[in-house]
Amino acid sequence: MQETISAILAKAQPELAALKTRAEFEAAKARYVGPNGEFTALMKQMGAVPKEQRPAMGKLVNEAKGQLQAQLDATLERIAAAEIAAQLGPAVDPTLPSPDAGPGTMHPLTQVREEMCRILRKAGFTVADGPEVETEYYCFDALNTPPDHPARAEQDTFYFPETAKFANVARKVPGEKYLLRTHTSSVQIRTMLKGEPPIRIVSPGRVYRRDTTDATHSANFHQLECLYVDKHVTVRDLKALLDYIFASLLGKDTKTRFRPHYFGYTEPSFEVDLSAKHLPKVNKEWIEIGGCGMVDPSVFEAVGYDPEVWTGYAFGMGLERLAMLVYGIDDIRYFYQNDVRFLKQFA
Ligand code: DAH
Repeated sequence: MQETISAILAKAQPELAALKTRAEFEAAKARYVGPNGEFTALMKQMGAVPKEQRPAMGKLVNEAKGQLQAQLDATLERIAAAEIAAQLGPAVDPTLPSPDAGPGTMHPLTQVREEMCRILRKAGFTVADGPEVETEYYCFDALNTPPDHPARAEQDTFYFPETAKFANVARKVPGEKYLLRTHTSSVQIRTMLKGEPPIRIVSPGRVYRRDTTDATHSANFHQLECLYVDKHVTVRDLKALLDYIFASLLGKDTKTRFRPHYFGYTEPSFEVDLSAKHLPKVNKEWIEIGGCGMVDPSVFEAVGYDPEVWTGYAFGMGLERLAMLVYGIDDIRYFYQNDVRFLKQFA
């Protein structure tokens, strides 16, 4: 019996060491210590051992059983560790270069915004900022846009409930409504209320309208606003500045033209078109790009400037529209989808 025990142990060791999978392990375990296992059979023979030999034999069998169990445990542990290692994959070396997509790039809208600000800074403009949550006063009233103007209607403007409170945006008129600004023209008012002429600011930023999204509309988009207030400012200065901006941004073959229009805050008012047929995907002669005009005397009165002394021009345009022209993009929705295949084309 002693020999049988030694033989089983001698056979088990290399066999267990060669096992690779949990299934192989379970099969081997059954072969040794399962109900019909070799070692189990051995234990069953104990009954046949003469009584006086039994204590010594029992000790031997127990020791052997302990050894076999230890080998089984070690084998299972080894297989379980190998399973986890296989799940984790190859070890990571943190000192290797990153496998990710590399440095990001500036969003095309950011690039056009920065380029416009750079062009305008060269003409003496500084960047001004204003809040996206506005009040009716800054967005409409001070801009000579009366309460019955269609732009103010619920279907164009996102209003906040009357109970909404914004600690960082003060109401100018008690009880007036908060809203999401529909244009960057509100920054004109904020800038003029804060300072004295001469003023020369550019203010890019996000605006909101209750538009249904399609290839050319989005409920939030970006505008760029400019305001110049000084003595003896004329329409000619306005036209010259717009010519300069668009020639700088889109090339010297770009032309601009004014069409008469109405805005409450400018008089006269114009819509600005540009012609840039040298650009990709431009198939119209004239493309509408924004609105402009000479600051209306009622706006100067609202901010406490003497309209007999001060003159000025203002204009606003859509940044998406400009970026679409610059890069030949034909759907505004691409700007907001965050798809790297789109974004990396503007690196
Ligand atoms: N606020 C106008 C809009 O959103 C654009 C605009 C027109 C801005 C005339 C101006 C301006 O500063 O003078 O459509």
